[in-house]
Amino acid sequence: MTGAVKNIKTGKKLFLSALQGGRSNRIPFWFMRQAGRYLPEYRELRARAGGFLDMVYNPDFATEVTMQPLRRYGMDAAILFSDILVIPHALGQKLEFLHGEGPKFEPIRCEEDFKNLEYTEAILAPVYETIKSLKSQIQKEGFYDTALIGFAGAPWTVATYMVEGGSSRTFENVKKWAYCNPETFERLIELITQTTIRYLLSQIKAGVEAIQIFDSWAGVLDESEYNRWVIIPTKKITQALAQSHPDIPVIGFPKGSGFLYEVYAKKTGVTALGLDSQVPLEKADFLQDILPVQGNLDPVCLLTGGMSLKNTAEKILEKLSAKPFIFNLGHGVIKETPPEHMAVLSEIIKNWRI
Ligand code: CP3
Repeated sequence: MTGAVKNIKTGKKLFLSALQGGRSNRIPFWFMRQAGRYLPEYRELRARAGGFLDMVYNPDFATEVTMQPLRRYGMDAAILFSDILVIPHALGQKLEFLHGEGPKFEPIRCEEDFKNLEYTEAILAPVYETIKSLKSQIQKEGFYDTALIGFAGAPWTVATYMVEGGSSRTFENVKKWAYCNPETFERLIELITQTTIRYLLSQIKAGVEAIQIFDSWAGVLDESEYNRWVIIPTKKITQALAQSHPDIPVIGFPKGSGFLYEVYAKKTGVTALGLDSQVPLEKADFLQDILPVQGNLDPVCLLTGGMSLKNTAEKILEKLSAKPFIFNLGHGVIKETPPEHMAVLSEIIKNWRI
């Protein structure tokens, strides 16, 4: 059953209309990591596909897992099933997803280590095929008002994985490099930035209707490093996209930005702001005067369910529904989340009336 609807006044998909600053009597919603391991049908397909990357680069599998949450919950947007780490992979950095350990790269620690990296766009051809296949599948299954989101990691966040060789707690190596040798680090960031621009332009050409830029580790930088490695590269991306596609909205999600959310909103050129769960609702309301916002329920609250889920979701809806708003989580769905909790939350949002 489709849950997505159009804005009655503009005839636009509710999600896209909110990104353009529009409001309607229902709040659009989708969830980061809405396709994934919390769904039994995902786990079943994942077991059949073999590795995670085998799934990402197989348009049939990737289309199917993108559709799975829509069929259950009728979100207003589907997000392409892929990963932010396909960019370093397409640049030639060897990538493995080890079971239960997350991504593993052979780390890049200096200019010598990345000077041979070269973008092979053909590696990402299956991702564009997935987008084309999704465009027709979404229609075929009757989700006429569901928008398709494409995405990439922000250069800083992608660089953290390339340099640390995987997930990190301290970001020691990448920060050390940025502090000690900013000129060569800037060349790495520039390589990622330019590759990301090409990748996102190809996603738009293939049919995505909006873009989200995931800067999951924006929050580990101080103010001046934040400007250099978060704001400037993100602005390059939004400007390049706007040049040929001014109509494609870009959601920036600089997780953990705290007080720096405001400067991000004002300087990067993004269309809307993805808020993490630490952003207080008072502050979210203030940021909403600058840009439409998306967020920010704590994924652990969704995992918990019950009255705390209902109360917290309603508090967010009450506080943020008066201005352009898309309901989402403050980070991705946790894999232990009971699928019924997603159903409960989706109904709370769909039934909420302004
Ligand atoms: O539904 C969706 O949101 C679309 C697909 C999507 C995935 N990853 C699938 C995925 C998206 C948008 C991402 C983004 C992503 N990938 C980010 C930014 C968002 C965030 O979570 O902060 C980051 C940092 C990554 C890198 C990444 N991918 C890590 C660190 C891991 C391992 C950790 C984990 O959760 O397992 C992945 C793997 C990954 N990406 C999975 C999925 C569904 C799990 C893979 C599996 O099935 O084993």
